[in-house]
Amino acid sequence: MLALVVLNIVTGAAVRLSDSGLGCPDWPSCYRHRLTPALSLHPAIEFGNRLVVVALVLAALTCVVLVARTSPLRRDLVWLSGGLVAGIIGEALVGAIVVYSKLNPYVVMVHFCIGIALLTVATILALRAGRPFTPGARAVPKVRKTELRIARTMLALLALAIVAGTATTGAGPHAGGANAKRIPVRLENMVRVHSGLVLLLIALTLVLVYSLYRSRAPEVVQERVRILVASMIAQGFIGYTQFFSHLPPLLVGVHVFGATVVWIVTLWFYDGLYDHSGRGALRSSSRDAHESVDARGARDAAGARDAAGAPDAAEPFRRGAGPRQRIPTGVGTAADNTGDPDTGRRD
Ligand code: HEM
Repeated sequence: MLALVVLNIVTGAAVRLSDSGLGCPDWPSCYRHRLTPALSLHPAIEFGNRLVVVALVLAALTCVVLVARTSPLRRDLVWLSGGLVAGIIGEALVGAIVVYSKLNPYVVMVHFCIGIALLTVATILALRAGRPFTPGARAVPKVRKTELRIARTMLALLALAIVAGTATTGAGPHAGGANAKRIPVRLENMVRVHSGLVLLLIALTLVLVYSLYRSRAPEVVQERVRILVASMIAQGFIGYTQFFSHLPPLLVGVHVFGATVVWIVTLWFYDGLYDHSGRGALRSSSRDAHESVDARGARDAAGARDAAGAPDAAEPFRRGAGPRQRIPTGVGTAADNTGDPDTGRRD
């Protein structure tokens, strides 16, 4: 499913990059009185993209049928796969508007963004379907509140950077076809906005890397954030290379594929900030878990005060005596190397 959604986005980009927009001048059939394309390049590329959408609908319907048969019923998966079907139909309808508006760049942008929304749902579906189901379990954070906030800001920044990327395409030479309208902004200015957002995002991600290292977050979280940084830097490198080499279509295609990879990796990283096993939820509320993880910071600060010879306000907690001792949520205690390497839990 995930691979098909990525293929949909990449073949959509291939339509723009090969100037094949309107290769099929009608919708849903290629021509008014004929379903299939003529035997020439542009109609074949455009029609190929439409065939991927058909495959996508079939795959999403299969998902709905499969998850509807799970026992106990996985309502979350039913909603997600049902949402995929609805989203794909929406994507196809916006595709029709793209054709009838003769490749209006703003509609093309919306078309791409719906593709990214579908990618989001498909990724969440894959992540949820891939782990054991514990009825009533709640996700419990493995990191501190501040770190969660930074991660959410990163998601928002990346989404903005992607929208700005689509506007950059709309202002550039690959807006859909040789005669497609363009967004009335100089390409260089749009590139500045797009790459500026990306540089901000990379800077924020590096701040998070440092924070997770300082707070001794679970190794699995630190590993994921390193992979995320690597994927962002690689994508940024491709971005600059394509711009300074005058946007060769093949490299721009790789950049679009890279955008899907970075988005998937970011969602995967964010998902990894929570313990989904249900073990934490059975024993504590997620608020407790926040307290526990944040208490790690308090303990570190207490250690620092110790070293400085200052009075120790956290003494009761550190020695295990006092009210806070009653918060053995078990998560986020990654400072203890004896814990579960995945959750940082010490049972
Ligand atoms: C995390 C990093 C990045 C992501 C996720 C990203 C994502 C995107 C996306 C989604 C598009 C629109 C593709 C389309 O509509 O077909 C795009 C276009 C573009 N990006 Fe990036 N980008 C990143 C970094 C950069 C950087 C650092 C540059 C540096 C100049 C850059 C330059 C461009 C250019 C020039 C385009 C327009 C290409 C065209 O003509 O179609 N990107 N980017």
